[in-house]
Amino acid sequence: MAEKISELTGEARAKRIAELKAKMQAAAVKAKAAHAAAAGAPAASKPAKAAETAPAQAEPPAQAAVAVAEKPAAPKPARTETRAEAPATNGAAAAAKPVPKPAPKPAPKPKEEAEPVAAGPSVEEMNRREFLTYAWGAALGLLTLQAGVASFLFMYPRFRAGEFGGKFFLSPGEVPGPGLPPVAVTDGKFWLVTTDEGEPKALYMVCTHLGCLYKWESSNNRFECPCHGSKFTHDGHFIEGPAPRSLDYFELTIEDNQVVVDTGRRIQGAPAAESPARVVL
Ligand code: FES
Repeated sequence: MAEKISELTGEARAKRIAELKAKMQAAAVKAKAAHAAAAGAPAASKPAKAAETAPAQAEPPAQAAVAVAEKPAAPKPARTETRAEAPATNGAAAAAKPVPKPAPKPAPKPKEEAEPVAAGPSVEEMNRREFLTYAWGAALGLLTLQAGVASFLFMYPRFRAGEFGGKFFLSPGEVPGPGLPPVAVTDGKFWLVTTDEGEPKALYMVCTHLGCLYKWESSNNRFECPCHGSKFTHDGHFIEGPAPRSLDYFELTIEDNQVVVDTGRRIQGAPAAESPARVVL
């Protein structure tokens, strides 16, 4: 019967402790070897054998135990690697069976980027554009209207009847007969006369020289300009003086038994050289 360690002393006690440690180490090594064999790792058997032969070696039990104790335990192979690399054995057949790898998940399709949609004009922009269009159209229309009104006013007769520049409506009795002195119509700035041919004529009251107002000289039966002495016959022909032409006159027509003098239409007198009344010195 084995003695209790507590009853031993000295060298016997140490020897007993060493033996127990060796046994414990051997048991641990066996367990690891069995575990490794079960896992199919041949390399794991070597430490087991070494562990089995370890007590038989000549080393003192204490040193062997210390050596075993100090010897690092064989690293446990990873289960997954052992199963994949170890040959098939009885116990490890199922473990060596290749584990089907899970099918890789398909990479998620990248989200298709939405095509940029051309941003249309907002309601506010549309309103602004419409406003600008209407404003431009209104300005253009207003400008056209102003141009039309200006053209109409320019072409419209600016003188009313009875005012200088407009038409004068006279009765035939207002026109002096042949050989009678001329009649002044001051509002229209003309003299009414009857020519030697018996035609009514409206002479412009302004001298053709420098614009003075000539006068009727009944004593001489002619017109005379007080400024430079130009003289004209009763029907406006140039006689003498610095005036370059005979007296100007207005357009005169007979409408509806009325004598119409248009002071807006002035007709220049004939050149002085062509006057039949011109005095040749
Ligand atoms: Fe009448 Fe000179 S303005 S002659």
